[in-house]
Amino acid sequence: MSAQILRKNIIFIKNCKRKQKIVALSAYTSSIASIIDKHVDLILVGDSLGMVIYGFPNTLSVTLDMMIAHGSAVVRSTKLACTVVDMPFGSYQASKSQAFKNASKILSETGAQAVKIEGGSEMAETVSFLTNRGIPVMGHIGLMPQQFNTVGGFKALKSEDHVFKKILEDATLLESAGAFAIVLECVSEVIGESISNKLDIPIVGIGASPSCDGQILVVDDILGMQKNFSPKFVKKYANMEEQISQAVEKYSLEVKEGIFPAKEYCFS
Ligand code: KIV
Repeated sequence: MSAQILRKNIIFIKNCKRKQKIVALSAYTSSIASIIDKHVDLILVGDSLGMVIYGFPNTLSVTLDMMIAHGSAVVRSTKLACTVVDMPFGSYQASKSQAFKNASKILSETGAQAVKIEGGSEMAETVSFLTNRGIPVMGHIGLMPQQFNTVGGFKALKSEDHVFKKILEDATLLESAGAFAIVLECVSEVIGESISNKLDIPIVGIGASPSCDGQILVVDDILGMQKNFSPKFVKKYANMEEQISQAVEKYSLEVKEGIFPAKEYCFS
């Protein structure tokens, strides 16, 4: 009898704290999710899909329907990684009941295990409302892309005392509200390390610190899908833009010259 390998859940992610690093990636499609499933602990269906997949300038135009469509595609095509779906801008900030209605819709229609919401102290009551009603929540503090208009773009946070105090307060309140983990984005290494040491839930860094309890990046970024997109915190492990371009150039030439399709690709 072979032992069944179960999908990682939020308890697994929580238990990684001070034991093992959490490997996480944002991914949005069935083809990519099925490839990365066995290599990561957590797949976030991030609202960064608005920029990466849909070509929006920021994440503000992402809808609940988009998140549900991509969330269910990712869940359907994976069986090992813990799956978390971002709540898009405008789907949870108005009230706790709005947040519950939309978070429960995401979980029931995608089969994902948790939702992620941006916000610190201002969202703590909402996080508590959701977690007390059976909705696991991952927090997201530091640089919050949904604050694009208020902050005036995507800006890493300064390494200053008041920034550290605010992030610590946000993280502590989210932990008390029942968040199972927190994404900490674009803060200095010292802040990232200190927050990770002080909290009892995992802090998953992006542009934060190697001392965070795990790391998350967007899969398209580590694959080098866009040659000219190189934020400081992204390491490119492949150069897919060039490979895709070369492959399609070759296909194009072969079609034009009648080389493709050769006999083996035709029905007799
Ligand atoms: O939307 C996203 O993909 C994210 C991660 C980059 C953390 O929030």
